Amino acid sequence: MAKALVLYHSQEFGNTAIMAEAVAEGLRDAGCEVDLFNTNEGRFNMVDFPGYDCVAFGSPDYYGYIAGGLKTFMDDHYIYDVRKGLKGIIEKSYVLFYSHGGGGKVKDVMQRIFRRIGTLIGEPVGSNGRPDQQVLNRCKALGSELAESILL
Ligand SMILES: Cc1cc2nc3c(=O)[nH]c(=O)nc-3n(C[C@H](O)[C@H](O)[C@H](O)COP(=O)(O)O)c2cc1C
Repeated sequence: MAKALVLYHSQEFGNTAIMAEAVAEGLRDAGCEVDLFNTNEGRFNMVDFPGYDCVAFGSPDYYGYIAGGLKTFMDDHYIYDVRKGLKGIIEKSYVLFYSHGGGGKVKDVMQRIFRRIGTLIGEPVGSNGRPDQQVLNRCKALGSELAESILL
């Protein structure tokens, strides 16, 4: 069974965590086994990353930028890829989602920083504050779209 990682940061209200659960649901519905990891609860061990077939990244907008935990992930990703030569770390399909408090500039930052992961699938899904049902439906559909992109 294909393995998907939903890696996100959620700290303030749990808004990004709710979106992450919906993306995970869409991935599972389309046939993936899913692990969720909140970078607010620890540092993701990059050695585990090659074990995933695809990945969903979610961040709150912090000062128009991604949360520190996700930045650390991308710093580690570069070092393990370029300096340490960890195999199977790049060229993964991925999707993006984000929550914000009325700004949302983080969307452009995410599209730039996560580019080195591989191929972006679909359109990033954003939520202004707590995600409503429409946003959650889009998150779920995004998860399924990601799964289908690797299972086809
Ligand atoms: C330190 C900090 C900085 C923030 N900066 C922004 C910002 O620049 N623009 C914006 O729209 N929201 C900003 N927010 C609001 C959060 O992006 C928003 O509340 C988000 O939904 C929180 O996600 P969470 O509940 O998953 O932690 C900021 C929140 C915090 C705690």
